[in-house]
Amino acid sequence: MQRRTFVKSLSAAPLVLGPSSSLLRAQTMERIAPATATPGFAPDIEIVLRAQVGEAALRDGASTTVWRFAGELMKGASDALGFLDGSGHIPIIRARKGEKLRIHFENHLPEDSIVHWHGLNIEQRMDGHPMYAIPPGARYVYEIELESRAGTYWFHPHPHERTSFQVYQGLAGMLIVHDDEEQAAGLPSPAHELPLMIQDRSFDADNQLVYIGPMRHNWMMGFRGDYVLVNGREPYARDVERTAHRVRIVNTSNASLYHLRWSDGSPFTVIATDGGLLEAAREQATLTLGVGERVEVWVDFSGFQAGEQLHLLAESYTPSLQNITVEQGGRALQDGARPIASFRFTEQAPVVTVRPERLSEQPALDEREAVNSESPRAVAIAMRRGSFYLNNRLFGAMQDVPDENKVKLGSTEVWEFSNDSSMGMGMGMGGMMQMAHPMHVHNVQFKVLSRTGSREDNALHQSLRAGFTDYGLKDVVVVLPGERVRVLMKFENHTGIYLYHCHILEHEDLGMMQNYLIEA
Ligand code: C2O
Ligand code: CU
Ligand code: CU
Repeated sequence: MQRRTFVKSLSAAPLVLGPSSSLLRAQTMERIAPATATPGFAPDIEIVLRAQVGEAALRDGASTTVWRFAGELMKGASDALGFLDGSGHIPIIRARKGEKLRIHFENHLPEDSIVHWHGLNIEQRMDGHPMYAIPPGARYVYEIELESRAGTYWFHPHPHERTSFQVYQGLAGMLIVHDDEEQAAGLPSPAHELPLMIQDRSFDADNQLVYIGPMRHNWMMGFRGDYVLVNGREPYARDVERTAHRVRIVNTSNASLYHLRWSDGSPFTVIATDGGLLEAAREQATLTLGVGERVEVWVDFSGFQAGEQLHLLAESYTPSLQNITVEQGGRALQDGARPIASFRFTEQAPVVTVRPERLSEQPALDEREAVNSESPRAVAIAMRRGSFYLNNRLFGAMQDVPDENKVKLGSTEVWEFSNDSSMGMGMGMGGMMQMAHPMHVHNVQFKVLSRTGSREDNALHQSLRAGFTDYGLKDVVVVLPGERVRVLMKFENHTGIYLYHCHILEHEDLGMMQNYLIEA
């Protein structure tokens, strides 16, 4: 009873975002009719996906009231819809490239929502732009023909100014795409996959989620949780067989950045990034994952003893790169990092496998084809009067696209994200306002061309940089304070309005987001 009231009062709490808030504008905006099922569309997979209030076992003790995706598979292979282990409230959808998905999204929440399919190249109406948010009780039918490469994608709500709250309450899922090329690479099958979703959360004495208040200042810092959950569980542990596994790691925290390593000191064998498989596997000692980023690693557990344990260790950082690992609770630290996922090896006889070498062919993306390599499209990150701006703009009206944000279908462009370190100086907060921003572009997978302006003298920057996966296809790239990151992308298949934004969810909700238009 009490819990119910708690949820209600939270969702009813007005978001105080200051005079520039577009909340009023959003309320008075006319609604766009939600997409409905098209008779000519023959889905291979059909799913009902409900966003609803529910209960989940996130930690030992009382269950926690969450907002979650629940659902049923109406059509398709039985593994097309599942739920991650642990609490079981996080869905995982599996499909093959070329397949047609019809997803009936039902909003059973007490407020507007809409679902975005993060990482997909997709029609505007299916992308989950906040202009399509539907009210409680309504339904939006997604019809998606999967054009993306095999990889780890994810989905989450995207209603303007409420994304951070809704994701925090538990709404996020994984979307796995398989394809023929991947099958030929000889990777571990889904039975030997370890999908891991990382999120930090805070709890009150009754095990209920605690989120930051509506104060502007906290929003700027981004939310940081007191515990790191994996697949909705803290602590997270599971048994695994002693053979090769494919680990899919997604950071869906609101704001935190993680620096990961294996507890036995062995390097990660990276096989994929946001945009799918690499050409060939690569080794690196650590992994740095900003919000929204994914990485896949191949790991062979055949050399371990039965009963032995391996941990995934994490150091956590706020957007201002404050190390909060020690402040977060959970298992005891190991060399300054915290075990966030533990794997215990079973009795079953070990099976040795060969590390796959050749993984995939990279899609053509050539800098010489770029229309603007001499003068890249600039995306300047700046902070003024308590807001973060992109090119001096906050997110405005839902369907307005500034003239400078128009690109041509079929064209290849270079964009440069600049996070100038001078910003925020003299704000009375010292270097606190110098933040790392994970920049995300909808509808594309880009190649990182260069990262300049890095602080070579700063040990923390150096160690975080060593964990980046700039060599693979990406849809999120972390831009450290002082850095300029150039990315190359091609606008293919669809015209329409899409977004680019900082994926720190509080920043996104504060308006650190822009529409861009792909025109014919
Ligand atoms: Cu996962 Cu608009 O983002
Ligand atoms: Cu996205
Ligand atoms: Cu940001």
